[in-house]
Amino acid sequence: MKSLTKSGPESIIFVFFTNLSEVYMKVDSDFLVIGSGIAGLSFALQAAKHGRVAMVTKREISESATNYAQGGIASVYSQEDTFDAHVEDTLVAGAGICHEDVVRMVVEEGPTIIRNLIDWGVKFTTSGDGYDLTREGGHSQRRILHADDVTGREIERALVAAARQNPNIEIYEHHIGIDLITEAKIMRKRLKPNRCMGAHVLDINRGVVKTFSARITLLATGGAGKVYLYTCNPDVATGDGVAMAYRAGATIANMEFMQFHPTTLFHPHAKSFLISEAVRGEGAILKRRDGTPFMEKYHHLKDLAPRDIVARAIDNEMKTSGDDCVYLDITHKEPEYVRNRFPNIYQTCLEYGLDMTREPLPVVPAAHYLCGGVAVDGNGETDVQHLYAIGEVAFTGLHGANRLASNSLLEAAVFAGRAYQHAIEQFAGCSFDYPEIPEWDSSTATNSDEMVVVSQNWDEIRRFMWNYVGIVRSDKRLERARRRIRLIQEEIEDYYWNFIVTSDLVELRNIATVAELIIRCAQVRKESRGLHYTIDHPERDDVHWKKDTFIKKHF
Ligand code: SIN
Repeated sequence: MKSLTKSGPESIIFVFFTNLSEVYMKVDSDFLVIGSGIAGLSFALQAAKHGRVAMVTKREISESATNYAQGGIASVYSQEDTFDAHVEDTLVAGAGICHEDVVRMVVEEGPTIIRNLIDWGVKFTTSGDGYDLTREGGHSQRRILHADDVTGREIERALVAAARQNPNIEIYEHHIGIDLITEAKIMRKRLKPNRCMGAHVLDINRGVVKTFSARITLLATGGAGKVYLYTCNPDVATGDGVAMAYRAGATIANMEFMQFHPTTLFHPHAKSFLISEAVRGEGAILKRRDGTPFMEKYHHLKDLAPRDIVARAIDNEMKTSGDDCVYLDITHKEPEYVRNRFPNIYQTCLEYGLDMTREPLPVVPAAHYLCGGVAVDGNGETDVQHLYAIGEVAFTGLHGANRLASNSLLEAAVFAGRAYQHAIEQFAGCSFDYPEIPEWDSSTATNSDEMVVVSQNWDEIRRFMWNYVGIVRSDKRLERARRRIRLIQEEIEDYYWNFIVTSDLVELRNIATVAELIIRCAQVRKESRGLHYTIDHPERDDVHWKKDTFIKKHF
């Protein structure tokens, strides 16, 4: 095996096996889609009507955050509900900085998008002659369509089946994006505007880096929960899209707003298992160890208060009592109802020895959803031309300082449609020469015998992010975190340019970048709003801070 590297910050490591005749090192397509959740798949299914789609995904195709979404997808579907009410609930949860035009657009396009999903084969749970609508925190109405308590799995199943049957979609599993290819990078000069031309992608199983060139590149890489020690996100949530876009010069926004889900199962063997907010929507009550309910002390909506308030209340209860968790109690409901409504949660808890129909479930908050991300316009386009970002990776203005539950699948599907429409208009008038691969210097990269550096840095980042940049922050804690991330990033960069690239290394570099962006945005915002709470500036300050936080790499 021979490795090719080029020194300097813009370099990348290429690895070639000696016998690669069967491997395509260069893939040209019309649309490159990175990520395979609801955002990437629904874009790909539409784009495939117009051209060849290469879909890159770093595990098996279904291994996305979408697949683990339990609650559902919010949309105005009942006679009692209105677009205005959904808009208002979203704005209230978003704590004053949602972009109202985006909120209205997403809410009003909701019912059409739901029909598209149904046409692609998604089967939502029905009740009587309509769809069963559930409730979650912050919603004034029952408006959440769901498929039992495995909504994401059902959506993923239907969309993956449709994508697999589509001859215009080529799926590359076990491929992870390393960096975007931009015109500026190829020409080695500053360009304004800059244009995206594809991405360098590591074929994980073969250990080779390939060049994917495309007219249109879409980031649909999901979130970044793995930046934190405790998360209910799957392992793939390492913020790859945000990190790649930042390195390519795209504007990033509102990274301080990481949403912590109030209720993940607290059990030594349960890795990241979410107890859906729909359980509280159907009547479950949060209690202390002695059985006293506590949410009325924090908000008039009690257990259905917006998520930031519930997570902070639990954090406060745990810190005050010294307990490791609080308890979620739905034992007052009929056992048969609970088993039927939450079959997956019931069964999974039972496997951990907990019968939720008979005993309260121990729960703790965990990192769940990134409300900030790559800044995009109403069509999902970033400020790097021909680069789109949709789904959790994107910042659209919908969520403000705190996402309303079950608005995210909706946002992803709405923006997939809008990005598709916009992209094909661009596509029609765009001449495109697939770029030449730059030559690479084959001098220095070797196999690392120090993988401990990767695991040590990975653990360290996640721990200090949890302790210093978690649910409750302070100026001092943020400064400590900033100092640590600087040191770790130096070490990672050093390591990165000297050793052969692996997916662990790519992900470590990405979580370090995302951690840095979260810390920097949190340091800028000198107030408490929504998901960003700091004891040094505990009040919301609408005079100075009723705005988004933007951040961009300077070259
Ligand atoms: C949940 O089921 O509680 C998660 C729903 C969401 O975060 O939108």
